[in-house]
Amino acid sequence: MIRSLLFISALIASSVNSLAFTNPATLRRSVARFTDAPVDSTVVDAALEAAILAPNHFMSEPWRFYIPGPQTTASLCNLNPEKTKMFEKVPNWLVVTMKSENEKHSKLWLEDLSAVSCAVQNFMTSLAGEGVGSKWMTGALGSPPEAILGTVKAGEGEELVAAVWFGIPEKELEGAKAPPRKLGVAGTLTKLD
Ligand SMILES: Cc1cc2nc3c(=O)[nH]c(=O)nc-3n(C[C@H](O)[C@H](O)[C@H](O)COP(=O)(O)O)c2cc1C
Repeated sequence: MIRSLLFISALIASSVNSLAFTNPATLRRSVARFTDAPVDSTVVDAALEAAILAPNHFMSEPWRFYIPGPQTTASLCNLNPEKTKMFEKVPNWLVVTMKSENEKHSKLWLEDLSAVSCAVQNFMTSLAGEGVGSKWMTGALGSPPEAILGTVKAGEGEELVAAVWFGIPEKELEGAKAPPRKLGVAGTLTKLD
C-alpha cells in the first residue's frame, strides 16, 4: 500500500516537473517553415480563448481577429507578388487588429496596443503548448498595413497589429534554439534596494 502511494506521488511529481520543463512561454519560437499537416480546429479555438484572457485595462477588449479562408488567403498571398511563392507555403494566417476608442498615441491607446500585443503572445504561446509553430509578421510582409486591413475587411478605424503565421513546424519546437538575446536578463534588469 505504502509502496503504491509512493509510486503514485512519484508519478505526480514527475508530471509536475515535465509541465515546468515544457513551459509553453519558453517553447514558443518564431517558425517560418511548416509542414502541410493540418492544425486541429480545437487547438486554434483554445488559442483564441487564451488570447482574449490577455490583460486589458478597463476591459476594453481592443483585439479583433480574422482567420482568412482560401479566397482571402490567396488575396493576402497576392498582395506582394515578389513574396507570393513564399507566402503560399504558409498553412494558416491569423490577422490581429486593434480597435481602440482612444486618441492615437494617447496613454489609453498605448494601453490598448499593449493589451492586443499580450493577446497575440497568448495566442502563440497556447499554440506552442500544442506543438504548433507560429511567427508574428509585420514589415516583412512587404505590404502597407492598409492593404492587409482591406483584404481581411477590417472594421472602420481598426489598426494592424500582427499577421500571425502558424502551422505544424518542420522541426519540432522542443529543442529549437532561440535567437540569442544580446542584452539578456543581466543587461535589462535593475535590482533596487
Ligand atoms: C511586433 C513584431 C513584429 C515582427 N515582425 C516580423 C517580421 O516582419 N518579420 C520577421 O521575420 N519576424 C518578425 N517578428 C518576429 C521576430 O523577428 C522574432 O520574434 C525574433 O527574431 C525573436 O525570435 P523568437 O520569436 O523565436 O524568440 C516580429 C515580432 C514582433 C514582436
